[in-house]
Amino acid sequence: MIKTKFPISRMRRLRYTPLIRSLVKETQLSINDLIYPIFVKEGIIEPEPIAAMPGQFRLSLDDLIKECEQVISLGIPAIILFGIPSEKDSNGSLASDPDGIVQLAVKVIKQRFGDQLLVITDLCLCQYTDHGHCGIIQDNQILNGPTLKRMQEIAVSHANAGTDMIAPSSMMDGQVQALRKALDDNKFEIVSIMAYSAKFSSNFYGPFRDAASSAPSFGDRKSYQMDYSNGNEAIREVLLDINEGADIIMVKPALAYLDLVYKIKKKFGFPTAVYNVSGEYSMIKAAAEKGWINEKGVVLESLLSMKRAGADMILTYFAKEVGQWLKEK
Ligand code: PBG
Repeated sequence: MIKTKFPISRMRRLRYTPLIRSLVKETQLSINDLIYPIFVKEGIIEPEPIAAMPGQFRLSLDDLIKECEQVISLGIPAIILFGIPSEKDSNGSLASDPDGIVQLAVKVIKQRFGDQLLVITDLCLCQYTDHGHCGIIQDNQILNGPTLKRMQEIAVSHANAGTDMIAPSSMMDGQVQALRKALDDNKFEIVSIMAYSAKFSSNFYGPFRDAASSAPSFGDRKSYQMDYSNGNEAIREVLLDINEGADIIMVKPALAYLDLVYKIKKKFGFPTAVYNVSGEYSMIKAAAEKGWINEKGVVLESLLSMKRAGADMILTYFAKEVGQWLKEK
């Protein structure tokens, strides 16, 4: 251990000027790290503002194209798509429809932009089921096996539409293995999987459920999403997903879970994503609207701390604003 101390050691020497500070900067936030979540909705013609998420909209396919043009021009490498169907039923039938909103969205984006934009599709049932749970239900229980089967059908439909990457978020056991198998059996070996591995049953998802009309109609998600008291369990979840064939693992939400991001990155050295979720977005937006915080400063500091903790990439609703700010710099 180095033993020099004051006055030989003066930490402030490396803080005196902007240039020296930039020279010793340990962590950088880059536009290359960001993934922008986009909501596409069936049957609308105008963008629909999402009340609890100022600056975010549900988009039609036409507006989605315009949005992607903007995303690409800002240098954002990837988007993750969430679909909002026009009808819901107990099986979430529209989730695997070849003409479903997400499948059509992927097709039009790929047709127009090809490899200029990486397209990730969120894979879950909750936006598509009339009960709002992330799986198939019997007697108010969420069934694991039948849900995996549905997820396989959905994954293949996304892959047929041309998605680059699938992001299963329903927290069923064995979901990564089931999807890897379904993709490989259908010759989609190169479609990758970003697993929502350590996804907690979190209060921070509130605004998203409003955005995607996906709140459960009864009970909660605690029989499948994780208890936020549990860190060791998060590590087991990640280990299982790596062994099942995940290409990227994720911790979600981000800010209140950076201890786990740090541990997981250190332990596995695996490509690691964090999801800066809707509640984290809306809190900053609300405080900034009131003039209580400096939005740009707080956003850049929050996202940088996620990288410092070990995240390689960040799913964030702030991606476009950050793109703008990084350009101005
Ligand atoms: C669907 C899903 C949710 C989020 C991403 N995928 C909501 C949930 O689990 O209830 C949350 C994203 C956010 O809050 O920004 N399972």
